[in-house]
Amino acid sequence: MQVRIEELKKSFAEALALANSQEALEALRIEYLGKKGYVAELMQQLRFAEDKKAAGQLINSLKTYAEGEIEKATEQLRAAAIAAKVRSAKKYNPTLRFAEEQGSYHPITLATREVEEVFISMGFTIENYDEIVDDYKCFEALNIPKHHPARDMQDTYYLDNGQLLKTHTSAAQNYIMKKYGAPLRAIFPGRCFRNESTDACHENTFFQLEGMMIDENISISNLIYFMKTMLSEVFHRDVKVRLRPGFFPFVEPGFELDISCEICGGEGCPSCKNSGWLELCPCGMIHPNVLREGGIDTEKYSGFAFGLGLTRLAMMKYGVKDIRDFNSGNLKALSQFKSI
Ligand code: DAH
Repeated sequence: MQVRIEELKKSFAEALALANSQEALEALRIEYLGKKGYVAELMQQLRFAEDKKAAGQLINSLKTYAEGEIEKATEQLRAAAIAAKVRSAKKYNPTLRFAEEQGSYHPITLATREVEEVFISMGFTIENYDEIVDDYKCFEALNIPKHHPARDMQDTYYLDNGQLLKTHTSAAQNYIMKKYGAPLRAIFPGRCFRNESTDACHENTFFQLEGMMIDENISISNLIYFMKTMLSEVFHRDVKVRLRPGFFPFVEPGFELDISCEICGGEGCPSCKNSGWLELCPCGMIHPNVLREGGIDTEKYSGFAFGLGLTRLAMMKYGVKDIRDFNSGNLKALSQFKSI
């Protein structure tokens, strides 16, 4: 028995060295370990052996040897197959990819740049500001104390640490007043967040572009002049607007500046809530409390502020019917704009 087993181990090792595929390994397994294989055959002969225990141990040693070797070889073949695949795979080449596909600007980026250019030409600076702010910046510094009902107008995302996602770009007003003092002219575009249910004209994440001008003798006529200039420059034609009173705690008086809906021509459609008008740029004369909170001398200076709905402006300018397209990541919709 011992001789026979030594022979079998030797022939197994020779066959294993030649087995270079999973199929060949499986055939070898069946030959040695299968139901009618050598190991099974030896087991049949066990009853004729003189020392059954010793013979049983020998057969078992052949069995575990063959099993272990087949498992090792299977693993080696699998690893070699993966390595071959990796070697033959096309290498990623970032420069090639760039040449193959050309990107395009997001329509919000295009609209922002256009408005920025208009205001730069009128002597405004462009400011950047955080997306996570504190309650003071977003509300209290803007004359909206705790528990003031005006807070209900802006459904706010609060963070666990007490800070919040800014609900409007007005949250930067206080910071900018303290940074520059008076006189100042600045615009500050930014992403805003509100816990809104979404539809064709509402999104929980959108862009505004805020502006402030503070100087001696600033009046409502300055405000109207800047708003009209900005809109006609951005749309490259005269657009129909209307100004009506609006309440915002941080301005007095406050206005809603509406634009006639460019999607339906004022007839009414889902994009304008069927009213034919879109609230585009609320604005007003900065409330003295807000100026004082920003360290501005209200005896000497006054100012106006506006909060342009940049996402809405992009909708009107490019005829985007559904606000949700902007954040959709839908390249078919978004890559129609100017190429990079
Ligand atoms: N921050 C206001 C909002 O998002 C919009 C606004 C109104 C901004 C009047 C202003 C302003 O600067 O003067 O609802």
